[in-house]
Formats: sequence, structure tokens, C-alpha cells
Amino acid sequence: MMSQKKIFLILLAVSTVSLLLHQGGHLSWPMEVFRQICPSINSPQIGRPVKHTNVVFLKTHKTASSTVQNIFFRFAERNNLTVGLPVTQCDHQFCYPRLFSSHFVHPHTLPPNIVTNHLRFSRSELQRLMPNNTIYITILREPGAMFESLFSYYNQYCDSFKRVPNGSLEAFLDNPWAYYRPEEKDSMYARNTLTFDLGGDKDRPHADLERYAKRFAAEVEYTFSLVMIAEFFDESLVLLRHLLSWDLEDVLYIKQNMRMPSSKDNLSEAQLHKIRDWNAIDVALYKHFNATLWKQLKELGLSCVDKEVKLLRHAQEQMVRGCYGGNLPRLRSAAEITNRELRPWQPSSKVAIVGYDLPINASKESGMSQDMCLK
Ligand SMILES: *[C@@H]1O[C@H](CO)[C@@H](O)[C@H](O)[C@H]1NC(C)=O
Ligand SMILES: *[C@@H]1O[C@H](CO)[C@@H](O)[C@H](O)[C@H]1NC(C)=O
Ligand SMILES: *[C@@H]1O[C@H](CO)[C@@H](O)[C@H](O)[C@H]1NC(C)=O
Ligand SMILES: *[C@@H]1O[C@H](CO)[C@@H](O)[C@H](O)[C@H]1NC(C)=O
Ligand SMILES: *[C@@H]1O[C@H](CO)[C@@H](O)[C@H](O)[C@H]1NC(C)=O
Ligand SMILES: *[C@@H]1O[C@H](CO)[C@@H](O)[C@H](O)[C@H]1NC(C)=O
Repeated sequence: MMSQKKIFLILLAVSTVSLLLHQGGHLSWPMEVFRQICPSINSPQIGRPVKHTNVVFLKTHKTASSTVQNIFFRFAERNNLTVGLPVTQCDHQFCYPRLFSSHFVHPHTLPPNIVTNHLRFSRSELQRLMPNNTIYITILREPGAMFESLFSYYNQYCDSFKRVPNGSLEAFLDNPWAYYRPEEKDSMYARNTLTFDLGGDKDRPHADLERYAKRFAAEVEYTFSLVMIAEFFDESLVLLRHLLSWDLEDVLYIKQNMRMPSSKDNLSEAQLHKIRDWNAIDVALYKHFNATLWKQLKELGLSCVDKEVKLLRHAQEQMVRGCYGGNLPRLRSAAEITNRELRPWQPSSKVAIVGYDLPINASKESGMSQDMCLK
């Protein structure tokens, strides 16, 4: 028998959703209602589920992971959690590309609830460090687009790319072995970067590739409860929120660390084909986890996922408008950003990484704090 309470909650959810979608307004709404939209498979009990606070987010390179990291940083701060940060010698990545070691974590940040800086994944070392109920999450991006992004971002850093005449992606793809040295510094940005970040072997010989990729994907699936897919970012966030029993407002974001569209190369089918050949293990991983993602989305129910995605986008727009005096912000080059704290790092003169400026007091009217907007 469907209880009256259940029916009431469903009706309440439906009417609130339509109210929000049609009316807009401010950011405060009864978050309890959202939990009823997609009944969570993980926490079927009635009442407020406890939010998970112990998480490793493996931050992969050039995959929209800075945007996810920002979500974790803000959640940690709001909930007074400890974020494990690298010791000074490790820089902002945990001594990447070295395999992660628990010695890389600054003693002032022990024991951590959340680890979300770049690192090369080592399951045993993270398990040694983290509480035993830690949830592992990462994000993958379609290897064609990802490689174009890596090539442009690390053009002046990675020797395999620096050697290429005229910095031409075309030239690299025509004969990668002329430029690539598997053992040298920063070579991980030039081949199977996802596999490398996950702790795998980026240079597995071709003869063994299929078997290896299969085994490696199974290993990753065993450890990671959620592998997000950058091309389905909002859908991935819905899964994240359910997995961690977080509220919708915990996963609101604003995109970070993007390039100007003019800095992006538009790839031909032939180029994409060559990239995928060169990064075959990453391609196998991506295919595997894209399928896994859609399986998980179906389990949650595609129609309720769709509703949550719409709500997320709506809430996001309200948040952003609230911060910008009712407008949507314009993407700006670093030079145009007056607030130094908001200037994105520029990897080279050839790529423009864009960001936002935050006009002082623009959020006043909406009652949102400048501090929240800044973060
Ligand atoms: C935050 O956590 C620290 C360390 O666990 C504790 O000392 C402090 O009182 C907490 N602050 C709040 C506001 O909960
Ligand atoms: C997890 O850690 C807690 C506290 O340290 C311990 O009591 C519990 O037995 C551990 N659980 C498992 C499954 O290892
Ligand atoms: C590099 O660019 C120069 C000038 O545009 C051109 O003449 C040359 O052929 C290019 N080299 C390669 C290998 O593409
Ligand atoms: C790629 O296409 C986009 C959209 O059509 C365009 O804005 C951009 O300038 C193009 N990039 C290059 C390098 O041609
Ligand atoms: C990912 O999976 C979805 C659902 O099966 C499919 O529609 C989509 O084409 C896949 N994307 C890629 C890039 O493989
Ligand atoms: C922002 O608001 C504060 C407090 O009302 C005011 O003192 C300050 O002058 C304002 N700044 C600007 C740039 O408008």
C-alpha cells in the first residue's frame, strides 16, 4: 500500500519543482523536498540521511576536475572538514607524477576527510591514510577532446610536445614516436593520461593492450564508487549527490579553468581517429565507464535524473545571477580580471585560460554574501 505520507510528499515535490521552474526567486527552498524526486537507492530509510564526509576525489588532468574540486573545497569548509593538502615540497599536486604516498600529506591536515588535489593514484597508500568508509570518486573525459586540451595546455611544458615543429598537433599525430619519450619528465601528459593518473601503465605494449585495459577497468571499478564523465557533467553530479546523500545546493558550481573558444583546435575525424589510436587504453576506460555511468543513471531513473538536472541548472543560474547583480557574468581573460585572486593561471602565451571577475557589492541586492560568491 502506498502510504498517504508518500503520496503527499510526491505531490509536494511535483508542485515545488514546478513552482521553482516557473517562478524563480531566491535561493532558499525546502531541500527536504528534493530528496524525494529520485528516491535514493543508497538510503531508502525515511528521515534525513547522514551526509558522507570521507571522500577521495581523484583529480584527473584536463577533465573539468577543477570545477569538481571547488565543490569539494566549499563543502569541506561549510562542514568543518579536514582537507588533506600536500607538503610544501610536493607543490599543489601531491608530488605528481610520483605515485602517491601518505608521506606527501601535510601533517597539519591529518587525518583528512577529503583529498581532492592532483595525485597519481595508489590504492594502498590512500587506504592507509583515509578512514575505512571513504568513498572514491573520479572523472574521465572523452580522450579525443581531452588530448587536444592537454596538447594545448602543456605545449610549453611537456618535452614530447615542445619538440613538435610549430607546436602542430597534426605533426605530432602523424608520427608520435618521433617526439614522445616514455621515460622522460612530463611524458604522462602526452599519452594515456587518464590511465597514468589512475596508477596504470600508459605504455602497455600493443599486443597486450586489450587484455590489460579490461583488467585495469575492472580494478578501477572495484575501487571507485563513481566515475564521473565530463561530457555528462550535470548527470554525473546528480549521481554524486545521491551517492554521498548531499543536498542539491551542495553540488552547485561555476565552471573553472576554461580556455577561450579561440584557443581550441577544431579536430577533424582523421585527427580524432589518430588520437584515439595513440591513447587506446584511455579510450577503453572511457567506453567502459561511460557505459557504467548510464547504467547507474538508469538505476536511479532517467526521468528523475532529468528533473534533477533541470533543477540543478535552474538553481545554478539563480546563484550566479545573485552574485552578479541579476546578470550572467562575461568570461574574461586574466588581464581583464581586476580581483587578483580570481585570475586563472596561464600555462603559456599561446593559450588563454579565462575566468570571471566579481564586481564588488553586486550580490548585495540578492542578499548573497560576497564571500560565498568569491568562493
Ligand atoms: C571544527 O573542527 C575543529 C577540529 O576538529 C574544532 O576544533 C572546531 O571547534 C570545529 N569548529 C566548528 C565551528 O565546528
Ligand atoms: C573501520 O574503522 C573503525 C574505527 O577505526 C573500526 O571500528 C571498524 O572495525 C573498521 N571497519 C572495517 C570494516 O574495517
Ligand atoms: C612550420 O611553419 C612554417 C611557417 O609557417 C612552415 O614554412 C613550415 O613548413 C612548418 N613546418 C612544419 C613541419 O609544419
Ligand atoms: C573552432 O570553432 C569555434 C566555433 O566554431 C571557433 O570559435 C574557434 O575559433 C575555432 N578554433 C580554431 C582554432 O579555429
Ligand atoms: C556514452 O553512452 C551514451 C549512452 O549509452 C551514448 O549515447 C553516448 O554516445 C556515449 N558517449 C560516448 C562519447 O561514447
Ligand atoms: C560596498 O558596500 C560597502 C558597505 O555598504 C560600502 O562601504 C562600499 O563603499 C561599497 N563598495 C563599492 C565599491 O561600492
